[in-house]
Amino acid sequence: MKSPRLIQIAHEDPQAVRAELLAGLAAPVASIAPKYLYDALGSRLFSAITELPEYYPTRTEAAIFSRDMKDMAQALGPVHTLVDLGAGNCEKAARLFDAFRVQCYVAVDISVNYLRDSLACLQREHPEMDMLGVGLDFSQTLALPAEIGRGPRTLFYPGSSIGNFTPVAALAFLRQARAATLGGALLIGVDLVKPIGILEPAYDDPLGVTAAFNRNMLLHLNQLASTDFDIADWRHVAFFNTAESRIEMHLEAIRDASVTWPGGERRFAAGERMHTENSCKWQLDDFAALLKEAGFSRLCHWTDERDWFAIFAAFAGSGDA
Ligand code: AVI
Repeated sequence: MKSPRLIQIAHEDPQAVRAELLAGLAAPVASIAPKYLYDALGSRLFSAITELPEYYPTRTEAAIFSRDMKDMAQALGPVHTLVDLGAGNCEKAARLFDAFRVQCYVAVDISVNYLRDSLACLQREHPEMDMLGVGLDFSQTLALPAEIGRGPRTLFYPGSSIGNFTPVAALAFLRQARAATLGGALLIGVDLVKPIGILEPAYDDPLGVTAAFNRNMLLHLNQLASTDFDIADWRHVAFFNTAESRIEMHLEAIRDASVTWPGGERRFAAGERMHTENSCKWQLDDFAALLKEAGFSRLCHWTDERDWFAIFAAFAGSGDA
């Protein structure tokens, strides 16, 4: 049996993380990057969100994959190397292995430690497959390591994580993704615009799981930046911003509140907000146009019967090999 290779590209420098967080806190409209929603508890809470009846994206995407897997496999052809961006427990990618005839699986996540157990488990189920775990934060720059090999790859970016980028940043990311396919393809899940009555409860569920996910960010900040947030002072706010076509998540001060850290302080008036996440919802044609603008030459897509979610296969074209 083969065993997974594991590499960590670079750990973030704790001083740089602290500086970034404190700059966000001190800004006139405070904001914190959404990647800080995911400490160990945040990742578990996100997993719980995907089980909520109101949070439709995960199960809608899974249903499209189940229904159209054969069609997708035909469109893509045999996938020698599958690069799973934001792999987590690797479950979504593992469902593609047989249909796509994957020979080499590369799981990428912010820390290789998140991938160790999942990859060991997957390797037992697929003893002949080459498996590589890569610890890499690709939220700013997608620079895949040479260890993956020089052949065309299929990049897999499910879950509509692309929605957590602004359209400008999404375009930059897609351009990098196209280059990183080395002439292969990108398989990407995208959440589509739909009625507000469906969108808002998905991000503000009656059980309060998304609220806990958002408020937990403050506990994570307390650890990373030695702040002293009291989560009792903060409530979860989520709404659809129609003009920007995105769900916005914020943390709102319930009363006048202050946060201190070694060498600094920020006071928040009651009602003042910190912006913690955008989740952009795309029109199908606009996302297709974005993929084209990023340089992909040929597209296929699949949607569910309500047109709530789309999966695109985007081909980089021969000029990129
Ligand atoms: C990870 N990402 C695609 C999720 C989303 O829907 O934007 C994160 C999330 N935030 C609140 N609920 C889920």
